[in-house]
Amino acid sequence: MLGRRIESSSYCKGKQLKLLITGGAGFIGSSMIRQCLARMPYHILNIDKLTYASSSKSLKEFESNLNYQFSCTDINDQRSLRTLFTNFKPTVVVHFAAETHVDRSITRASDFVQSNIVGTFSLLETASAYFSDLSAEEKQHFRFLHISTDEVYGDLGSDGYFLETSPLAPNSPYSATKASSDLLVNAWYRTYGLPIIITHCSNNYGPYQFPEKLIPLMILNALENKALPVYGKGLNIRDWIYVEDHTNALLRILERGRIGQTYNIGANSEHSNLEIVYNICDLIDSLVPHPEQISRRSLVKFVQDRPGHDFRYAIDNTKVRTEFDWQPNESFSSGLAKTIKWYMENADGWCRHILDQSQSKTIFKNREMKDSDVYSNEHSHEQTQ
Ligand SMILES: NC(=O)c1ccc[n+]([C@@H]2O[C@H](COP(=O)([O-])OP(=O)(O)OC[C@H]3O[C@@H](n4cnc5c(N)ncnc54)[C@H](O)[C@@H]3O)[C@@H](O)[C@H]2O)c1
Repeated sequence: MLGRRIESSSYCKGKQLKLLITGGAGFIGSSMIRQCLARMPYHILNIDKLTYASSSKSLKEFESNLNYQFSCTDINDQRSLRTLFTNFKPTVVVHFAAETHVDRSITRASDFVQSNIVGTFSLLETASAYFSDLSAEEKQHFRFLHISTDEVYGDLGSDGYFLETSPLAPNSPYSATKASSDLLVNAWYRTYGLPIIITHCSNNYGPYQFPEKLIPLMILNALENKALPVYGKGLNIRDWIYVEDHTNALLRILERGRIGQTYNIGANSEHSNLEIVYNICDLIDSLVPHPEQISRRSLVKFVQDRPGHDFRYAIDNTKVRTEFDWQPNESFSSGLAKTIKWYMENADGWCRHILDQSQSKTIFKNREMKDSDVYSNEHSHEQTQ
């Protein structure tokens, strides 16, 4: 894809950037908002549907900030999106909102199709219509930054890296919906001239991640001396990045990225799942020894592997490093130590709250689903009569 570089010195010079962020109540989106509000002259509108993976507690700290607004909206709701775009007048859209847990995509893919594909379509339609009404100067500054994942490239053998030119070859329902959204975003660039940029990042870890993902789940279970379930033999490899290093790269891409380009973000930090779990066990043992003085490694329990489990992901980050003079600040050990410390300090606060909240949201959702099933069954019955 061809790209146009906008120099940072000319990019919205002297103006406050207005960022419309979707999914800002989630793990990475909230980190992005934290960084923007702390460092830059940004005004933010956060649009989030507040699914089980998000917590109002993650947003509490922003509420008194005059540069921050929130709307509890589903990105599938185009009517509300149109009003939000018209009133807020964003300079930039940063699109994080998605269903993100691979295991959930295997048991309930429909939520992923709806939010990740149809939701992205709805956002693109709204952004395109808004973009076409902008003045020539406003058009120059507008960006649609689409946050995607390295999982869209499928899996690697024991060597090789994902490049920006690697073909899309997703294997899970989650990665298939993310790859579909990438294709839609690219089509809106080529067909309608929407100034998009796509990023593919590797596995993130850090504070505020919902404790169903590997690292927070293992930390909380290890702290409570519970079993540590590891898929298969724990040999699957991921390339891990501390969340703030990811959002830091996104800010640079936002300011200096070339329109129409794809950027892969990763920290050259490959670890197998088992290696990570053992690291967590050892660190927690050193901080809070097990009451029976045993190593928490003994809590590891190998469980049946995830169907279609990708073996290895690894990112070649040359483009983002050279184009933006970016590099990760955290090593895996420093980032993991920070993350463990945060979960220890927030186990009874944020973690308890999001887990309790997610349980009631799931019960509510199951009830909603049963109601709508009854409706659609009756409806189709009527139609066939
Ligand atoms: N976590 C990772 O390791 C990782 C790595 C690379 C890319 N990504 C991508 O980054 C983005 C954010 O990931 P995350 O880990 O922060 O996810 P998350 O699950 O923590 O947060 C997702 C947020 O999106 C919101 N959301 C979901 N569907 C929505 C809808 N229809 N309308 C409005 N809001 C909706 C949720 O309420 C939640 O706040 C995703 O697009 C994901 O694919 C994640």
